[in-house]
Amino acid sequence: MPKISKIWARQILDSRGIPTVEAACQLDTGEVAVASVPSGTSTGTHEAIELRDNDEQKYLGKGVSKAVGNVNDVLGPGVWGLDVTDQERVDSRLIELDGTPNKSKYGANAILSVSIAATKAASLATKQPLYLWINTLAKRVGIKGEVKIPTPIFVLIEGGLHGAGNLDFQEFHLIPATSKSFTDSLRSAVEIFLILGRDLERRGAIHSFGEEGGYAPNLFTNADALEVLYEAVKQTPYQIGRDVFFGLDVAASVFYKNGEYTIRDKSAPLTDDGLLEYYKYINSQYHLAELEDPFHEDAWESWKKLAESMKDQLVVVGDDLLTTNMERVQKGISEGSCNAILVKPNQVGTISETLKVVKVSRDANWKVITSHRGGETNDWFIADFAVGIGSEYAKFGAPNRGERVVKYNRLLSIEAELLQQKAQ
Ligand code: PGA
Ligand code: ZN
Repeated sequence: MPKISKIWARQILDSRGIPTVEAACQLDTGEVAVASVPSGTSTGTHEAIELRDNDEQKYLGKGVSKAVGNVNDVLGPGVWGLDVTDQERVDSRLIELDGTPNKSKYGANAILSVSIAATKAASLATKQPLYLWINTLAKRVGIKGEVKIPTPIFVLIEGGLHGAGNLDFQEFHLIPATSKSFTDSLRSAVEIFLILGRDLERRGAIHSFGEEGGYAPNLFTNADALEVLYEAVKQTPYQIGRDVFFGLDVAASVFYKNGEYTIRDKSAPLTDDGLLEYYKYINSQYHLAELEDPFHEDAWESWKKLAESMKDQLVVVGDDLLTTNMERVQKGISEGSCNAILVKPNQVGTISETLKVVKVSRDANWKVITSHRGGETNDWFIADFAVGIGSEYAKFGAPNRGERVVKYNRLLSIEAELLQQKAQ
């Protein structure tokens, strides 16, 4: 029974240059595992609370020294001596110590850093690859299925809060066919991404890269972003609708104000019904495979309406709507709001709670998409997590920027490992 002998934390920087928490977990057997937590830019209102120092003199208020202190002084000592392979016990102790429903006392960032460090330490102690250990944890909560390399959802163009460009929709996705190997999927995405960059340059439309490594251009409309993507794919041997598909994370809460949605595609703001009609039009033009956060995060009625009319054609994904939160997921299931969940461990704060949300989503026959955040670190934990829970899809950004490719590269290596095992 490998026991936790020490936990300590430090403040490090995420990919945006904003402080985040890194924690280390040492076992009585000597192993040490280190984990760091991501942070959202377009965070949902219903997410667990990320504790920031709010001291304007330091990092413009964005420091996390209080969260780090909470790990060092309370959360770490609170789990010392526990069996690290009993993730449920470790996490329930963390939840108990915090005692608030949204982890606002010690911070979901502090709590998750310990939870993930423990998961990683347990994989070392049990001498299993991380994805296999996570699969063991998944089975413990009743998630069926073996490890599986997810189909990647690549973020090739960015707008909204993620880029300096002028698009309202947050992400424009390229999704390779589910039948492709990960290695081939990654190759197709890179080739299309490079051609896309060349095309945007020719149009004089490159503004910069967005937070997740995708291009953040200035274009006339949001639909134009799909058009440039379409044009780029047409220059490759890949066929839209056979080899690759398109998707959107609209992140509609960001441009929703006073009951209306303002987007550059339309001269006047749209109602929920007007926006639904526009999605139907976009879908008729580009045959989307997936649509995330089409309405604001509390527009339950509109979500239901959209799911009823479009869920046979595409995957309707709840991110800001659900925030990996059990109560909201249950409401989404009973109301038929979507048919897929975006899973982000830091929206809820522990690995055990994340696994339970995955289990409930699976039982409802929803697709599971494991996701990174706008602010990431070079920790590739989420790649192993996606494989371990057997998620259908994984969204880790563009095939660009270290903190994104580290996760895709990890999937490459897991795929090679699994192929090798199969051949033996
Ligand atoms: P976020 O974006 O991490 O900034 O919330 C990712 C997403 O919305 O999927
Ligand atoms: Zn999203």
